[in-house]
Amino acid sequence: MSFPLNRRQFLAGSAAFTTASLIRRPILSARDATGRLNVAFIGTGNQGMGMLTRFLQWDLGDVVAVCDVNQGSYGYREEDHFYGREPAAQLVNETVAKQKNRGNWKGCDSYRDFREVLARPDIDAVFVIVPDHWHSEITIRAARAGKHVYCEKPLSLTVEEGRRMVDVVRETGIVCQTGSQERSRPASQLVCEAVKAGAIGKVHTVKTVVGFNNKIGPGPGWSPQPVPDTFDYQMWLGPAPYQPYHQDRCLYRFRFHYDYSGGQITNFGAHSCDMAQWGLNRDKSGPVEIVCNKAEFLPEGSLFNTATVTDYTCKYDDGVQLQCISSEPKVETRFEGSDGWIKVGYGGVDASRPELIKGFPGFREAKGEIDAHSLHMKNFVEAIAGKATLHAPVEIGHASANLCHMANAAIRSFPKLGSQVLRWDLDQERFVDNDSANQYLSRTPRNWET
Ligand SMILES: NC(=O)c1ccc[n+]([C@@H]2O[C@H](COP(=O)([O-])OP(=O)(O)OC[C@H]3O[C@@H](n4cnc5c(N)ncnc54)[C@H](O)[C@@H]3O)[C@@H](O)[C@H]2O)c1
Repeated sequence: MSFPLNRRQFLAGSAAFTTASLIRRPILSARDATGRLNVAFIGTGNQGMGMLTRFLQWDLGDVVAVCDVNQGSYGYREEDHFYGREPAAQLVNETVAKQKNRGNWKGCDSYRDFREVLARPDIDAVFVIVPDHWHSEITIRAARAGKHVYCEKPLSLTVEEGRRMVDVVRETGIVCQTGSQERSRPASQLVCEAVKAGAIGKVHTVKTVVGFNNKIGPGPGWSPQPVPDTFDYQMWLGPAPYQPYHQDRCLYRFRFHYDYSGGQITNFGAHSCDMAQWGLNRDKSGPVEIVCNKAEFLPEGSLFNTATVTDYTCKYDDGVQLQCISSEPKVETRFEGSDGWIKVGYGGVDASRPELIKGFPGFREAKGEIDAHSLHMKNFVEAIAGKATLHAPVEIGHASANLCHMANAAIRSFPKLGSQVLRWDLDQERFVDNDSANQYLSRTPRNWET
């Protein structure tokens, strides 16, 4: 294929690819006749509510259940966002009542405990949109219950949990989409596929960006708070170690605690570094070396403990370098090759020569039609029906999460090891001879089950 590639050529190419590599998988429940899925949304917070709204707008299936340990409250990303299972059920019931012209429609049930959702035989697929410390547990149980899973990015909290997710998805044969919607965004697809196809010659460097922390937690000496009546805090903690409640530990802000997530390194790295691996054609693999050049943290005793600033460099086995820094825009991936550069991210698409991106859509152009989240859910639904190839299968989610987890291990080791080069064994998914860094690749889950 020659470059520049226009949008029509690209879509024609990808349609041919899709048909040729069609994967036929059975729909697991009794709904085969219509092919329309019964789905449940587990986690109806900041991202869950947005995804639910889009799913309903695009009419991608029937939402028969929503689940959240929070009945309903303010205090998500913005203080005036009121989310949780009751507002979510209300949203579904009111939207569907309007769509079906049935004022009293109440077909969506709400649950506090995801185990009750997974026990329902009529549910075909679940959207797992909870904090990262719950991703593997819910995905694995859902897969074993025969549900297809759309699991938000970053796929896992640890390398070891991601490995188990891949194994169980393969063993059960379910369809598992990682929620890396850049994989379904036309602008990202065009850039990464162009790089893969040699549009900028031989790539030697990729520069990625992860945004800075966008919330400030309490400093040393913070005091625990009473748990709100409408919030099941024990179930929110689940497999994470017990810690006293504070609102800045939970809704949205869980991102900034290593017990529940990996800071912006995993949050935004799951997009920018995922695109890097995609363009490098290494999206089921990863680098073999990593070095942390810089890492900053909040004062000891602060409620948030993830890195606030970082700069790290990885090397692939062919010598290609990936450097990731904390900066703006929050997500950006810039490929540099022997014949120019091209970049994609929240700041848009750009290139060293305008013809490289001629005809490419903007990053958020015509948002309604090419909304990446909706396209990504549509791809999941179509893959279940055997009508499309999944854009972000679990192996891809695992590989990009691993890169971010490697980075966090190097960053967390930085105060002790400094800028020591850490070697990575791709088969073992561990650092070579470095127990200090390897300690960050797994965790011992708390026994949460009642
Ligand atoms: N793809 C994207 O661009 C994107 C954007 C934002 C968030 N995310 C991902 O979505 C996930 C959720 O992030 P968020 O910002 O919505 O967080 P959030 O805190 O706003 O929402 C998470 C919800 O999950 C609920 N929850 C926690 N444990 C639960 C359990 N065991 N059962 C049921 N509900 C439970 C919480 O009460 C909360 O309402 C994260 O993994 C995050 O990385 C992805």
